[in-house]
Amino acid sequence: MTAGATKSPTQAELKRLVGEAAIAYVEAGSIVGVGTGSTVNCFIDALGGIRERVAAAVSSSEASTARLQALGIRVLAASEVDRLGVYIDGADEIDHAGCMIKGGGGALTREKIVADLADRFVCIADESKLVDRLGRFPLPVEVIPMALAQVSRRFAARGATPRLREGFVSDNGGAIIDVHGLVIDDPAALESEIDQWAGVVCCGIFARHRASVCLLGTPGGVRTLQF
Ligand code: A5P
Repeated sequence: MTAGATKSPTQAELKRLVGEAAIAYVEAGSIVGVGTGSTVNCFIDALGGIRERVAAAVSSSEASTARLQALGIRVLAASEVDRLGVYIDGADEIDHAGCMIKGGGGALTREKIVADLADRFVCIADESKLVDRLGRFPLPVEVIPMALAQVSRRFAARGATPRLREGFVSDNGGAIIDVHGLVIDDPAALESEIDQWAGVVCCGIFARHRASVCLLGTPGGVRTLQF
């Protein structure tokens, strides 16, 4: 490195940047929806610093619940709340309309359930997640184990390659298929179609529950995208 050159932030530093920035979206005294993943872990850690201002959280995974509780934040079941002002979560990909692929960590079903309770979805992501078109990241799909073969055949018939996530069981007892090479021209239409297939619990396209805001971590700071 030449003298005086500044070092680019690492992906981990960008995740921490947006995790901390998301605190601005937490209203004092509110119940906050909390997602899952390494970026959300940064948000949870920052939330611990203001825990007296947070009434409680609704969490999208056992892992996030454990992290929240370890920081002294009360966690409610989704069934205990009528609505949430905001849900904060990461994404594996996000496009310029706020549609996302999620589920790299396997928590997509609970993520969609908690997102459905929220008025606003604030996506936190490093800039590598912003794409022109969804689909380079393999689409995670949670499936009832009994239906794995027939759901896989449906994806293969579309020219995509479904791969079982070996040794993985979701918090709901489901299996995950990661679908490679899927063409996603119309995210909302494809989400609706896949979610109706027999045996599919939930697919990782979040178009009906797209982001309202994305806080994107860039070397120049946090870029805010409004959708
Ligand atoms: C968890 O199931 C996912 O939907 C995550 O939100 C997504 O994979 C992003 O994870 P990272 O923040 O770890 O990249």
